Amino acid sequence: MAKVRNRRRVKLGLLGSGTVGEAVQDFVFGELKGKSGADLALEIVKIYTRQPKQKKWYATHPSLFTTRAEEVIDHPEADIIVEALGFQRQRQLHTFKNYILRAFKKGKCVVTSDKAVLARFGKEIWTAAEKYGRELRFEACVGGGIPIIRSLTESFATEEPESIYGIVNGTCNYVLSEMKRSGKSYQAALREAQERGYAETNPKADTTGLDAEAKLILLTVVAFGLHMESGVIWREGIEEIQAIDFLYADRKGRCTIKHLAVANSDGAALACFVSPVLVPHDHFLATIDGPTNAIFFKGKRSGGEEADEREKRDWNYVFVGPGAGGGPTAVALLGDVCELARRGGGRGPSPRGLRARDHFSPQSVDQIAGCFYVRFIVKDRPGIVGDICQTFGKARINISEIWQLSHSEEELRELAKSYRLAGKPGRILPFVITLERATVGQIKNALKIIGRKDYVLVDPVWFPIWRN
Ligand SMILES: NC(=O)c1ccc[n+]([C@@H]2O[C@H](COP(=O)([O-])OP(=O)(O)OC[C@H]3O[C@@H](n4cnc5c(N)ncnc54)[C@H](OP(=O)(O)O)[C@@H]3O)[C@@H](O)[C@H]2O)c1
Repeated sequence: MAKVRNRRRVKLGLLGSGTVGEAVQDFVFGELKGKSGADLALEIVKIYTRQPKQKKWYATHPSLFTTRAEEVIDHPEADIIVEALGFQRQRQLHTFKNYILRAFKKGKCVVTSDKAVLARFGKEIWTAAEKYGRELRFEACVGGGIPIIRSLTESFATEEPESIYGIVNGTCNYVLSEMKRSGKSYQAALREAQERGYAETNPKADTTGLDAEAKLILLTVVAFGLHMESGVIWREGIEEIQAIDFLYADRKGRCTIKHLAVANSDGAALACFVSPVLVPHDHFLATIDGPTNAIFFKGKRSGGEEADEREKRDWNYVFVGPGAGGGPTAVALLGDVCELARRGGGRGPSPRGLRARDHFSPQSVDQIAGCFYVRFIVKDRPGIVGDICQTFGKARINISEIWQLSHSEEELRELAKSYRLAGKPGRILPFVITLERATVGQIKNALKIIGRKDYVLVDPVWFPIWRN
């Protein structure tokens, strides 16, 4: 890395010129140019995009753009490769992974915001980084601008992690916050999120929990040294949540609904899931609205079970901030770039995590235990609630409470409409049963039996209730 008037020059090759890639260019070419901190001058030597002429900075920097990724990766002056590509199809991740591996082979370090490629091919990528002695940095992959990865790997280096959990998907949080705030339907809240730029035209990766799953995979690698494959984690999205769930949550449970990513250890097994969760109004996470992210970390030594008696408290560390957006994500990417450059280009191994690998094993989904919220919509006739409670009883699941609200005609009409239920809205009966501690396997089995009953109009919607 050359020095320019006492400022070390760091030369980047940039893969991607979408929202994030362009924000990186704004930082390097725009008004903030040269204001990256006293000791470093960031420079971009090549940018890969398939459509250079459509890009904002093409007019002023045409020679920097290329439609060949290899020209970026192989560029002799590029010290660090910044990968900010986004996939539409799974097989594209394979190509992106190969770009990263090529960079290592060429002796370069990589900084990425691409959580999908790391969640899918992380093991192969980290192995290659070790083999070639190059570093991979990925602060921008989780929590956008929130410095969670570095905090976990560096600040908590001597901590024994107990749990990490929180709101990691701004789109889901925006949609759920709007449903709570204004009583909007899921579809209306999603439409608004799309209009305001908080949700993609195709929002599936966010609303089905895939994006949160990828982030949780990375958080568990970093915090617990456990690399889970995609598909192993119990994953539920927000698409089944209805306005009526917020009514029950609020009026009966004094709670709201948040989409959370959770990894909880009992010392050996790690219970991981991504799901809507009923969160009490007085929990800090209940107050996080809009596209903001908030991630809790709890360790055993600083206040947990291994803490000194006098210091034993229920300490949690909380990281809050913008979970997405070009600006915050570019700041996180360039923070990693600066960190690598200051350490002389990253000759050491990649920071993979706090723990030695294989310290933990994932708990099977069916064994994950908790208290649960189950919302039913049935035909309104006598004996149904009793029949459902009996089925839970036979499955050795204890009922905690039965919640029933008297609904307005309008609420029932909206509910019937959203499920396309024919007949008079007055003939449908929504209600909620909350369950005492049970396993996911027990609940699935009981609901399989209940789902076959002729009175069930809609598959029951169920998810965990937060318990500290
Ligand atoms: N946006 C955020 O707030 C945010 C936050 C954290 C992390 N991330 C992650 O950062 C990455 C970039 O996000 P973004 O918001 O900038 O996405 P984006 O606006 O959709 O841009 C995606 C970039 O990837 C390129 N690309 C897409 N498919 C490609 C393919 N098949 N082959 C080659 N290039 C392809 C696009 O190329 P063209 O230029 O040719 O169209 C574009 O430059 C993603 O992995 C995303 O998950 C985003």
